[in-house]
Amino acid sequence: MTFSKATSASVGYSKSVENRLKIQYLQQLTPKVASPPGSDVVKGLTDNPKYLSPRYFYDDRGSELFEEICELPEYYVTRTETSILQNCAEEIADITGACELIELGSGSSTKTRILLDAYHKLGYPLRYLPIDVSAGILEASARQLLVDYPTLQVHALAGTYEQALGQLQPSELPNRMIGFIGSTLGNLNPQKCDDFLSQITAALQLGEYFLLGVDLQKPQDILEAAYNDSAGVTAAFNLNVLNHLNRRFDGNFDVNKFEHWAFYNEIKHQIEMHLRSLEAQTVELRSLNLKVNFEKGETINTEISRKFDINDIQELLKNKGFVPQKVWTDDNQWFGLILSKLS
Ligand code: TRP
Repeated sequence: MTFSKATSASVGYSKSVENRLKIQYLQQLTPKVASPPGSDVVKGLTDNPKYLSPRYFYDDRGSELFEEICELPEYYVTRTETSILQNCAEEIADITGACELIELGSGSSTKTRILLDAYHKLGYPLRYLPIDVSAGILEASARQLLVDYPTLQVHALAGTYEQALGQLQPSELPNRMIGFIGSTLGNLNPQKCDDFLSQITAALQLGEYFLLGVDLQKPQDILEAAYNDSAGVTAAFNLNVLNHLNRRFDGNFDVNKFEHWAFYNEIKHQIEMHLRSLEAQTVELRSLNLKVNFEKGETINTEISRKFDINDIQELLKNKGFVPQKVWTDDNQWFGLILSKLS
């Protein structure tokens, strides 16, 4: 008797998680001829100066190292944004009212919990739409959230931002908010940033909200320390790109013949991350049929991280049809969260 009760209870429980979870795998909207895998690598490594897409940071090891970066004493970004969110989440929930929360690049959804808690506390229904290219992490963190929040509905979208923004359904709740936190906007160059904000505008209806987290300009030594931590985790994260390429494309990069190099470009207001060749060498990526020559000291650009002026970014948002409702920062004004409304 006890046994059958326990069984049906656990079935009922898992069903309720299942009933509240929807996972959608997004397709390319206009099917174009897919470029063959690695064509971006060929393009980047045969260009002058050389570059690689930041997507090659995130294999399993890279994702693990990134989680470690977020905990580093020098990497103030995650900690600062989290503390701002803790202070303003209820105010955000109060302004937007009951709303669907769409999150771009949700990853493990750690910071999102602060927002979910606030909506829950104010008694608003919770519907969360995380968007991430990594379907595995998306599903695992969605299931964990459903266990922790018994009234939450999750509709996870596995795909790129472009795919997701191009096919959002109208909100099932009175309002809707797109969240883009972690200063990921700063990893886009000005042109891509502009295109991206236009896509956000196109995806929302008038009266809906956009919550944006941006890293702000600050003294160079603080910025450079954040991307050159003393434990060497950011260096390992950067160099891991070469291991990833070796595995993916049957390559022979010798990680010991490159070094991590990150500095603040004061003119462009951006951190630039590079891999620098320690000697003249030739590297082969066999499955791409590619041989790449490096001179001693030659670099590959792997990432930029732009640092914003809080007024400039609000101007940019206004140009895209948004009216900033409220801006929150920390005591040092190191990081900014902007809640704006499409008007
Ligand atoms: N958007 C964050 C930032 O620019 C995360 C990030 C992207 C990052 N690439 C990185 C952090 C490389 C450290 C190193 O800071």
